[in-house]
Amino acid sequence: MELKGSHVMITGANRGIGRAFAKECAEDGAHLYLVLRKKDAALVKELETAGAASVTQFQADLSEASSIAKFLKSSEELKIDILFNNAGILKAELFENQTTEEIYDVVQINLTALMHLSQGFLPGMLKRRRGKIINNSSFMGAMYLPFSSTYAAAKAGISAFTSVLRTELRGTGVSTLLLITPPVKTRMFEEFEKRNRKNFEFQERAMNPQTYAKIIREAVLNDLETVEPQGLTGIGMRLAKYIPQVFDWEVRRRFSRKAKSL
Ligand SMILES: NC(=O)c1ccc[n+]([C@@H]2O[C@H](COP(=O)([O-])OP(=O)(O)OC[C@H]3O[C@@H](n4cnc5c(N)ncnc54)[C@H](OP(=O)(O)O)[C@@H]3O)[C@@H](O)[C@H]2O)c1
Repeated sequence: MELKGSHVMITGANRGIGRAFAKECAEDGAHLYLVLRKKDAALVKELETAGAASVTQFQADLSEASSIAKFLKSSEELKIDILFNNAGILKAELFENQTTEEIYDVVQINLTALMHLSQGFLPGMLKRRRGKIINNSSFMGAMYLPFSSTYAAAKAGISAFTSVLRTELRGTGVSTLLLITPPVKTRMFEEFEKRNRKNFEFQERAMNPQTYAKIIREAVLNDLETVEPQGLTGIGMRLAKYIPQVFDWEVRRRFSRKAKSL
């Protein structure tokens, strides 16, 4: 699907991958709809300057079903072509150290909100026989690492949900793009790496968000169904899928519950 003139909605557009992709869409002349927890006038200006056909901000807290419902009501009239379900959170902790509230938040923000938003925009897309839903899953939803229990569960859920949607939508003019996102140098990845360094030898090289946003752009323009990690992460993912015993052995070898002092 082309980006020029398309109406693109992005959650978590204020930083990281969401912001970098918003910039790509702006440079292509798309109409942008940003879903943010806090409005950001400087961001709007930056995207307008980059070439966006228009920029509209919406405020929503994806941890609250009522906030999402209110946002969907206020955006009912929009004719969205591309919905990028990007916002997410990660609690990089041992499972027993995560609070019940954090468990609910991780599943709600990463997975339930994504389905709620998809449910909100899909009927309009089907009616117009035009649309694309991009869902941001993770390599951690395909290769399971310590300190990611709740996040891995939510991200694996995104992959399952998107795969079913892809089949159901065949022939309707609406498509899906599943991002099995590799390590990308954003605040989320840096927090995970910092937490992990003491307990887990994690040596993934992270790409910068601008490079990843260009990969997403190409996938949209070429109507790809999936973006998968390349390089070491890609090899790790294949190992986890096809020879899980070896993958698990390697992960266990690198993991220790007791933190090392650095
Ligand atoms: N970076 C990686 O290595 C990596 C790898 C695989 C997958 N991903 C996925 O990529 C997506 C983007 O992450 P990122 O790496 O760009 O991380 P990031 O810089 O931490 O950005 C996360 C975004 O989600 C938004 N968000 C968090 N909680 C929210 C809430 N309750 N309501 C609305 N928005 C909320 C944040 O907004 P605030 O600023 O308001 O908090 C922020 O815009 C996530 O789904 C993540 O799981 C990232």
